[in-house]
Amino acid sequence: MNINIWAVDRDICYTFFNASHKKGMKKFWGADIEVGKPLLSFLTNPSYIDAAKQYYSRIFQGEQIALVDELYDLEGDLHFFENHGSPVFDESGRILGATIFTLEITERIINERKIKKALEEKQFLLREIHHRIKNNLQIVSSLMEIQGSNVRDNEIRSIFINSQNRIQTIAAIHDLLHQSEDLSCVEMESYIKSLIYNLSDFYSEDRIDFAVKITPVKFSLDTAIPLGLMINELVTNSKKYAFPGKRKGRITVTLEPAEDPFYRCTVEDNGLGIMEKDSEETKQGLGLQIVEAMVNQLAGSYTLESGKGTKCIIRFKAGLCKNPD
Ligand SMILES: Nc1ncnc2c1ncn2[C@@H]1O[C@H](COP(=O)(O)OP(=O)(O)O)[C@@H](O)[C@H]1O
Ligand SMILES: [Mg+2]
Repeated sequence: MNINIWAVDRDICYTFFNASHKKGMKKFWGADIEVGKPLLSFLTNPSYIDAAKQYYSRIFQGEQIALVDELYDLEGDLHFFENHGSPVFDESGRILGATIFTLEITERIINERKIKKALEEKQFLLREIHHRIKNNLQIVSSLMEIQGSNVRDNEIRSIFINSQNRIQTIAAIHDLLHQSEDLSCVEMESYIKSLIYNLSDFYSEDRIDFAVKITPVKFSLDTAIPLGLMINELVTNSKKYAFPGKRKGRITVTLEPAEDPFYRCTVEDNGLGIMEKDSEETKQGLGLQIVEAMVNQLAGSYTLESGKGTKCIIRFKAGLCKNPD
C-alpha cells in the first residue's frame, strides 16, 4: 500500500515529499511538484484550494487533523484518502509548518458502501415479508370469521373464534416486526400487551381486570411465537371459565427472568379454579394440549396449580436477540 508523505512550511511551500506523493500529484492534478514551490499553485480546482487553505491554517494553529479526503483523478474516477496532518514545531514550540501523510482507502470505502446497500436491501425485503405474512394470516383469519359466522351451533362457532385467535396471535408478531427497526427480535412487552388487547376485543367485558407485568426484553421469533400461543390459551381459559356469570376478577400475566439463563412466565387468575370433575373427565382440552406442546417446543417445563383460582407457571430458556438494543 502506498503511503504519501509530504511537508510544507508556513507559506504552504513544499519542504519535503516522497516519490509516492509526487506520482499522486501528477496523477490527480497533472502537476510536476518541486521543493520550495507553493503547494496550492499545483491545484486547479478552486473549491479544493479553499478547503486546502482552511486545512493548513487549522494545522498552523496547532491542530492535528484526521479526515477522509475525496478526490477525482484526471479520468474522472473518485478516490478516497485517509488523511492525517499535524504541525511541525521548533525547539521553542513555534509552528514551522505541517507534515501530512495519506493512504488510499478507495477499495475499502466502496466495499463498505456495497455492504451497507446490500444490508438495506435485505432489511427492506425482510420487512416486506413480515408484512405479507401478516396480511396472509389476516386473510386466513377473515375466511374463518366468515365461515364461523354462518355456523348456528354455538360450540362450533366458538371453535372458529378460538382458531381465529390463535392465528391472530401469530399475525401480531409479524405485524410488530414489520413496524420495528429490528426485524428479527420481538419486544415482549408490546407483543404480550397487544395479544391481551386482541383477546379483550373478542370477549369485551370490563368486569375482568388485567395486570400485565413484563420485564423489558427481546426474544427471537422461535421463542416469542410459542410463548405467545401459550399466553393466548391460558388467558382465553381464564376469561372463559374462571369468572362465570357476572363474577368479577383479575387476570395477571408476568414475564420475568428466573435463574440464568431461564425466564418465567406466569398466567394467573383469581377465579373458580379448575373443577375436580374437569380434570378427570375433560382432562386436557385442545388449549392445555397446545400449552404442553409449546412448552416442549421451548424445551421448558410448566406447572398448573388450581385451588382458589388458577396459576400456570412456565419456565423456559429464551432465545434472546443477538443485538438486544
Ligand atoms: N383458568 C381456568 N379456570 C377454570 N377452569 C379452567 C381454567 N382453565 C382451564 N379450565 C378448565 O379446563 C378445561 C380444559 O381447558 P382447555 O385445555 O383450554 O380446553 P377447552 O378450553 O377447549 O375446554 C376447560 O374446559 C375448563 O373446564
Ligand atoms: Mg381453552
